[in-house]
Amino acid sequence: MERIAIYPGSFDPVTNGHLDILERGLKLFDKIIIAILTNPKKTFLFNLKERIEMLEDSLREFSGVEIDTFDGLTVEFAAQCNAQAILRGLRAMSDYEYEFQMALMNRRLNREIQTVFLMTGLRWIYTSSSIIKEAAQFGGNIEGMVPPLVEKKIKEKHLSIRP
Ligand code: PNS
Repeated sequence: MERIAIYPGSFDPVTNGHLDILERGLKLFDKIIIAILTNPKKTFLFNLKERIEMLEDSLREFSGVEIDTFDGLTVEFAAQCNAQAILRGLRAMSDYEYEFQMALMNRRLNREIQTVFLMTGLRWIYTSSSIIKEAAQFGGNIEGMVPPLVEKKIKEKHLSIRP
């Protein structure tokens, strides 16, 4: 049986922390489907096309990864993909409450699908898309925290917002 996981998230934008989790996940799963949330009620810095483009560029060296989009329940999307698991990364303790709440709700909604948490590498413990975007917004150096195309796109975005 093919071991399939979905890796859901906003990916606004993809960071090196996400890539670290994917790399670890690929040691456990034959296929990981990145499931990008398209929720129109959420405000994203990058539109869906941009988020996909940055992911595609960052994943050129990866095999066994697909990119898809979803709106609605994560467990429903996982079932549609025939995935046995939902993959999520864990960083500092502050992630736990939100992640446990979500995992327990997901389990209640579909008992067949397991949430698998992987610890991120130490160097990514305190990084997130949000904090990286905030640093970049004020001209902070985000080199090495995100893939090269993402760094370029964040800079362009902030220059266009604040010329
Ligand atoms: O990258 P993020 O923003 O932390 O990802 C959050 C995500 C997409 C995993 C979460 O918002 C989600 O699963 N949304 C879909 C709705 C859903 O199924 N929620 C959890 C159970 S109610």
